[in-house]
Amino acid sequence: MINILISGIFGHMGRTVFEIVSEDEQTQCVCGVDLKKGELCGVPVYADFADVKEKTDVVIDFSSASNLDNILAFAKKTGAAVILAATGYTSVQLAQIDAAAKEIPLFKTANLSVGINLLQKLVRQTAAFLGENFDIEIIERHHNLKKDAPSGTALMLAESANEAFADSKKFIYGREGMVGARQKQEIGIHAVRGGTIVGEHEVMFAGDDEIITLSHSARSKRVFAAGAVRAAKFMCGKPAGKYDMQDVLADE
Ligand SMILES: NC(=O)c1ccc[n+]([C@@H]2O[C@H](COP(=O)([O-])OP(=O)(O)OC[C@H]3O[C@@H](n4cnc5c(N)ncnc54)[C@H](O)[C@@H]3O)[C@@H](O)[C@H]2O)c1
Repeated sequence: MINILISGIFGHMGRTVFEIVSEDEQTQCVCGVDLKKGELCGVPVYADFADVKEKTDVVIDFSSASNLDNILAFAKKTGAAVILAATGYTSVQLAQIDAAAKEIPLFKTANLSVGINLLQKLVRQTAAFLGENFDIEIIERHHNLKKDAPSGTALMLAESANEAFADSKKFIYGREGMVGARQKQEIGIHAVRGGTIVGEHEVMFAGDDEIITLSHSARSKRVFAAGAVRAAKFMCGKPAGKYDMQDVLADE
């Protein structure tokens, strides 16, 4: 049995992960951490990682980027593997994550769905195939409660496209006013917010007289929660290092 701590357990994603962990025969949720202490279906929830007494194999974090220091300190102290699923990390935090991965097994991805990870590969291949003659624009759509923009997934897709150009492209976040003609080195990234949209990503390659569009639409948050549990099973017992969904899929 894999012992899981869910960080951000009272949130939308945390509760969905709790459901899936509870339904899975190989995993159990031993406790949670959130801003306020309490309990969920009899499982203790702490407001501070320092209060956790339960033996933890894997921490699944769906809280917020602001919780990073606490999670890394807990993992270093206990040896637990970490699934970082929150988004919105600063560049300083990303460097902190890379440094921590030298000491602990750490999984990080902006998107836990299998479909998005396939899309990432397709975007890289398409960008390499089409080259400089096609303009790349990324449009993401999410619900009206999402706090960070653009989505971590949109950035991940932009970086995958940029790999095909040896990271020479410049990301442009939305456009307004007299911005002038589009420059060849731009990758445009646009965030749309509204209603209860779970998560939609569209990568458009616009050429002369033709457009290719690659897109993914998540229809339920369960797809991300199921990906997190899949990643937790993969990460249990792994040596220190940085892992992502491509490692999980390759292993399976
Ligand atoms: N990687 C993915 O595939 C994926 C998919 C969906 C959402 N997300 C990300 O997961 C995060 C959570 O999304 P959500 O929709 O569940 O949000 P939410 O606001 O519903 O839930 C967040 C929960 O975390 C708790 N929390 C916030 N800061 C905390 C802190 N410092 N310490 C402890 N608990 C804290 C909140 O109280 C809340 O219960 C967001 O960053 C979102 O972008 C990632």
